[in-house]
Amino acid sequence: MATTPRSHASNGTSSGNGSKSSARRSPEPRLGQRGKELQRFGTLRQLPIALSAEARTESYQLLNEILADTTILYAFYKKAHWNAAGPTFYQLHLLFDKHAGEQLELVDAIAERVQMLGGISVGDPRHAAELTTIERAPDGAEEIPVVLDRLLDAHETIIEKVRDAIDKTEESKDMGTNDLLMGEVLRTHEMQVWFIAEHVVDVPLVEA
Ligand SMILES: [Fe+2]
Repeated sequence: MATTPRSHASNGTSSGNGSKSSARRSPEPRLGQRGKELQRFGTLRQLPIALSAEARTESYQLLNEILADTTILYAFYKKAHWNAAGPTFYQLHLLFDKHAGEQLELVDAIAERVQMLGGISVGDPRHAAELTTIERAPDGAEEIPVVLDRLLDAHETIIEKVRDAIDKTEESKDMGTNDLLMGEVLRTHEMQVWFIAEHVVDVPLVEA
């Protein structure tokens, strides 16, 4: 990207009215800006929530692992939504999108909890892809029962981590994280697992 000469005064000289800031005023957008990170990923900043640095570090690390997986599961549901096929196309197309939306809400809730604890949340999907332990599906389209099975596997991968984090945050007395994981994350997953699993029960559609 071409950078244009900056017209703002950077040497502290002031204009005739005595205001330094007025000398920097310009209608030009300040493009091409890069700088050092304010806070590196994996570090903790201080926040006065009466919770030890050790407890906050453990919690945000657990949450970031769940966040990475949740980012992947969200994308997985969107792809399933786009590739639904067959006699159950319409209901699955809608159900997958509903679940994707609920997972996206969890992404936001988990990420904001990481920030509340003083950490930096995983954001870039490429970063999430480095951290996730959910098995990667082929880039093409698979048959619906396979997609449903992969979704159930992905849910259980996350649920295992969530249950572990619920135990650990109870021990560390990080009840804010504990409540989020139990009340929102775990229950959303259990509900979604039920809705997906019922689709792979082999019952007759027309004749018993
Ligand atoms: Fe859509």
